[in-house]
Amino acid sequence: MTTRTIGIDAIALSVPEGYLELAELAQVRGVAPGKYVDGLGVRLMSVARAHEDPVALATSAARRVLKQSGVDPATIGLCIVGSETGVDHSKPIAAWVHRLAGLSQSCRSFETKHACFGGTAGLMNALDWIASGSARGRKALVVCSDIARYTLASAGEPTQGAGAVAMIISENPRLCALEVGASGSYTKEVDDFWRPLYSKDAIVDGQLSVQCYLDAITGAYGEWKTVNAANTAPIARRLYHVPYGKMAKKAHRQVMSLEGKTEAEADETYATEVATSLELPSQVGNVYTASLYLAFASLVNAEADKLEGKRISFFSYGSGCAAEYFAGTIVEGAGAFAKQLDIAGPLANRRKYSFAEYEAIRKADGEVDRRPVEAGNFKTVAFTGVDKDVRKYQG
Ligand code: HMG
Repeated sequence: MTTRTIGIDAIALSVPEGYLELAELAQVRGVAPGKYVDGLGVRLMSVARAHEDPVALATSAARRVLKQSGVDPATIGLCIVGSETGVDHSKPIAAWVHRLAGLSQSCRSFETKHACFGGTAGLMNALDWIASGSARGRKALVVCSDIARYTLASAGEPTQGAGAVAMIISENPRLCALEVGASGSYTKEVDDFWRPLYSKDAIVDGQLSVQCYLDAITGAYGEWKTVNAANTAPIARRLYHVPYGKMAKKAHRQVMSLEGKTEAEADETYATEVATSLELPSQVGNVYTASLYLAFASLVNAEADKLEGKRISFFSYGSGCAAEYFAGTIVEGAGAFAKQLDIAGPLANRRKYSFAEYEAIRKADGEVDRRPVEAGNFKTVAFTGVDKDVRKYQG
């Protein structure tokens, strides 16, 4: 007898064409490079140019996941984009992705928002849609797309990034079967991080945000333990929301302390249970909604073959705040399929920006997107400007 499973069938990412080295940023800002590289655990951050907006990034990831996985766009019945970098107060990023990725007109599409938790809100919706029977055998496309941006020279600046992760959610997934209906959730209204409607830069109370994240993991993990009291299968790898690498280490210490372990004991398991999931995030930076799923992509890219049949856990945090802890199992054959997906492919051949280029890109990207449409020689789908208040895309 085969058991019906639901989960992450395939995954792909997209990133802007260039990045900045954090050691160079530290030098210019007069900060010891060790603070960024070791203190925060960050190495490179993706920098989005004006044409690499959240719609363009989301579309590139969506097209790539369909192509690499061989999933027919006609079989997608639900398209959700999680983002906190929305480009319009009304029109969802999902509407453009739906057209530009060639999805069927009978496919439902919308955007979800709750800071970095928006992607997980989309994922949970997709899982429930399939589990309820509403999917009628169709699959869901869940895309997380964001540009993490803080004021130049602020404490948040080294924790920026940009990119998108797209996932196919389906029955009999080829990467990870998720434990549907067994999550631990946590919600509490707090003012740790937000982005007013008039601003592209987020506002953050950094130290409070770290504390809110830790309070949320305590709440969500506690609830997850209660819900899963009867399931004692060990967790081989633990994935956390990664605003910067060190935060995942703090999160792991917190979870381990809830298991009665000391900080030293937590740090012993960190290298095995957490470190491989931080490799791709350390090359991209914070991608808000996509960060947890970039960590998952990093894990399956590095060691899906070793983990087949093993249980892994996920922790999603969104400022404001909402959080969820859940788990799943890497399925048989995931190792070979991950190779077919060529997950890290988009990170090859990127351009390294100098600090001067980074600063120029930021200064050229004003608060409101009103630049006129201009033709460009873009390698991929691109936001080309605004014509009579209508956003235009090429490619
Ligand atoms: P800060 O005040 O510049 O840094 O802000 P710090 O003084 O806290 O130092 C950071 C670490 O570097 C410390 O280590 C220092 O000891 C160490 P820790 O105590 O944390 O282990 N350090 C050094 N290490 C080596 N060599 C040195 C050195 N100097 C110091 N020379 C902060 C840091 C993260 C607050 C800031 O970057 C920030 O505000 N970032 C944005 C907010 C953020 O990422 N918050 C994370 C939790 S909230 C979240 O994850 C949600 C979010 O993704 C958005 C959403 O949900 O929508 C942000």
